[in-house]
Amino acid sequence: MDEKTILPTTAPTATNQTISATPSEPNNKNQNGRDRHALRRILVALCFMMLVWTLCGLDMEMDLEDDDDDALSVWSLDPLSLATINTITVPQTVEHEPVALEAHIMSKCPDARDCLRELVLPAMQRVYTKVNFTLSFIGTPTDSDDGVACKHGAEECLGNIIELCAQKLYPDPKSFLGFTMCLTKNYEEIPQRSLIEDCALEHAIDFDKLNECATKDDGAYGISLLRESVKRSSAAGVTKSCTVRLDNKIFCIRDGGRWSDCPHGSSVNDLVLAVEKLYGREQ
Ligand SMILES: *[C@@H]1O[C@H](CO)[C@@H](O)[C@H](O)[C@H]1NC(C)=O
Repeated sequence: MDEKTILPTTAPTATNQTISATPSEPNNKNQNGRDRHALRRILVALCFMMLVWTLCGLDMEMDLEDDDDDALSVWSLDPLSLATINTITVPQTVEHEPVALEAHIMSKCPDARDCLRELVLPAMQRVYTKVNFTLSFIGTPTDSDDGVACKHGAEECLGNIIELCAQKLYPDPKSFLGFTMCLTKNYEEIPQRSLIEDCALEHAIDFDKLNECATKDDGAYGISLLRESVKRSSAAGVTKSCTVRLDNKIFCIRDGGRWSDCPHGSSVNDLVLAVEKLYGREQ
């Protein structure tokens, strides 16, 4: 705001200078015999005036430009310095680790559908920026052929592999979790190609990439993904689909069409609050 008050004060002083130059050229008319000298003086005076005028004019313009620049740089500095404060100081004072949230499911299980639909997805929509989400699967590793046995058969194993491939290829939960929910809504149809294609299309997932992942190395790659995931669930002591774990502890279990083992409640709000609380804790 100071710049605005400087501008008017420089402008009047400049004009004052040009006005004060005017009285310095009278008296010449009385000396008739020296008209030429008088004329010359007048011309010189006029030239001098013009010189002063143009110089002052230039000065004024330069003053104006300088002030404009100052004003601009001050205004552009203000948001800039605010931005630097935000980016530098905020992460230093509150650096949050994402909270581990995990859902252990089987692809052809109605409890997985209810669990994702009623709890995990709506909660994730509210806290996905604060969470490191993992989708894991429940099954039994078979020692004989490095395979996995799935409760609802080979079709479920293939469904699990497709969902794991989606997670691997599209790590953003908004993609792979949405895709998994889409399949799970019609879990009886897993692993029909039409269902997988429809859900892939709906969630901007490349079906060919998914297919490539599931069939890579004659399917060995997909099976190894599933084995790793199944071992992870087993190491966490998880046996029921669907088990929701928060911060590596059981948060809630959906089994046989009802919630159980939910010490902090089974509502979306309960899960959101628990995530917020863990996210805000001192690390
Ligand atoms: C998220 O969790 C996975 C395990 O599910 C882990 O490998 C990964 O490092 C975690 N990422 C972050 C950013 O904590």
